[in-house]
Amino acid sequence: MKLSENAVKVLEKRYLSKDENGNLLENCEGMFRRVAKAVASADAEYTDEKGIAKLEQEFFDMMADLEFLPNSPTLMNAGRPLGQLSACFVLPVEDTMEDIFEAIKNAALIHKSGGGTGFSFSRLRPKGATVNSTGGVASGPISFMKVFNAATEAVKQGGTRRGANMGILRIDHPDILDFISCKKDNSEITNFNLSVGITEDFMKAAEHNLEYELIDPKTKLPAGKLNAKNVLDSIVEMAWKNGEPGIIFLDRLNKDNVVPKLGEIESTNPCGEQPLLPYEACNLGSINLYNMLTDDGKALNFAKLAETVKKAVHFLDNVIEVNKYPLPEIDKMTRGTRKIGLGIMGWADILCSLGIPYNSQKAIDFADKVMGFIQENAQKASRELAEIKGVFPYYEDSVFADRGLRLRNATVTTIAPTGTLSLIAGVSSGIEPIFAISYIRNVMDNNELIEVNQVFRETAVRENFYSDELMRRIARVGTVRDMEGVPGKIQNIFVTAHDVSPEWHVKMQAAFQRHTDNAVSKTVNLGHTAATDDVREVFILAYKTGCKGVTIYRDGSRDLQVLNIGGVK
Ligand code: CDP
Repeated sequence: MKLSENAVKVLEKRYLSKDENGNLLENCEGMFRRVAKAVASADAEYTDEKGIAKLEQEFFDMMADLEFLPNSPTLMNAGRPLGQLSACFVLPVEDTMEDIFEAIKNAALIHKSGGGTGFSFSRLRPKGATVNSTGGVASGPISFMKVFNAATEAVKQGGTRRGANMGILRIDHPDILDFISCKKDNSEITNFNLSVGITEDFMKAAEHNLEYELIDPKTKLPAGKLNAKNVLDSIVEMAWKNGEPGIIFLDRLNKDNVVPKLGEIESTNPCGEQPLLPYEACNLGSINLYNMLTDDGKALNFAKLAETVKKAVHFLDNVIEVNKYPLPEIDKMTRGTRKIGLGIMGWADILCSLGIPYNSQKAIDFADKVMGFIQENAQKASRELAEIKGVFPYYEDSVFADRGLRLRNATVTTIAPTGTLSLIAGVSSGIEPIFAISYIRNVMDNNELIEVNQVFRETAVRENFYSDELMRRIARVGTVRDMEGVPGKIQNIFVTAHDVSPEWHVKMQAAFQRHTDNAVSKTVNLGHTAATDDVREVFILAYKTGCKGVTIYRDGSRDLQVLNIGGVK
């Protein structure tokens, strides 16, 4: 097995089966075997025992060779009694006390199984509105979000991973200003990522410095006006301060809603890459592009990529089948649309190894080519599955029925953050640039360990400029820009998230979005000295280039930054 020491540690701690005393019941190979077996079993009615065994081996090899990995809940739960395999859920929050607390209960069940939940709070009546039954006044969406947050804190996902939520409020909700600033204090609502749901009308009003109308969701009546530019300024100001809220473009999510007859998309999953209808779940999986190079390492092996995409789509479609859903409503919706989200990881690593700077037109063109290829092949694989196993049950309600495009899955592609998957595969995460070329990791007994990006290490050795002393020097600043001892050409290729200007971050996100059914998880990094105007420009550029949302992070703006350059903290 190709797993690093680090990857094995993560898997042992959180993914492998254990007995009640915490003793391991399987090793990493056993985990991949368990997952492959469970997922292949979905083909039982289409093939014989030999066919299943062959499929199981294919799925096993693809994971064990770190060419493709399904999202964490699949690795953790497939073939085990819990059997909940999806990472992403969206739950509706209706404007009654019963429904609000029902949503909290359902979220707790999902968190317990390792999934994340997204909610739109836009249907809740604003703070101060009347409550008929008591004659009292409503507490409003933000105070209820705090209850969701507290419930998440208590559940802790059964010790596997911390519960994650997305909270969304429409820009025309009367409590929008409170929502924008509700995480001003960083210790509040910590289990939520927040995004403002923005409309086209709002963007136009902001551009022309006009007022826009707030709507009371309960009465559907106008509830005052705000100046759109001022509201955008407050979002920008808060995002500049600590990275939140992000924004999502609701009209765009709905323009790409392929089953509009089933309802409106009002929220995404916690990291923003998966827009879903209420009660829909989605399972993600990512191809490790760094393992898709030709044998001489000089090019991307498109034949191997095509084959991997085909197997990965088959795998993810089977996951829908063997998945045990936490609620009957989720079971019905998820099996009804059969959405899957295939994406990639190791993008920055493959760019570096091919000598393409992340912040270059060449990289953008390559992104268009690679993701276009993945999208096309994923859809082809879904079409082929439909021929054998049938189209998704809500197909007749979908836009594909009008076009005669017979698919097994309502969506096929999503770019996930791959926070843990990239760690397991030992490559750069999702489509993000390398965070640091080398960094200092504090290990036990105050010992320092220098971690070096594997592609950089290989390059430095090959080009004869490797030394421990140099790696230590790089670790102090994270970047190789202007670093003595690193050839100029290499400095240009090995750019880190902070060397890449915000414009290139957005351009890369937009390139991937052009070929992705769902959305793209991406953080646009800004330097510590960036101004609020820089943040505004990022928002506008993301809007103009067709992104479905955007999240920014200004270096050092949050008190607790997990991984920061220089390694300390
Ligand atoms: O790499 P891994 O499969 O663990 O997850 P990811 O790609 O970083 O995140 C994908 C999705 O998993 C997120 O958007 C969330 O919906 C969910 N997630 C979660 O619920 N809790 C976490 N602690 C991390 C991710």
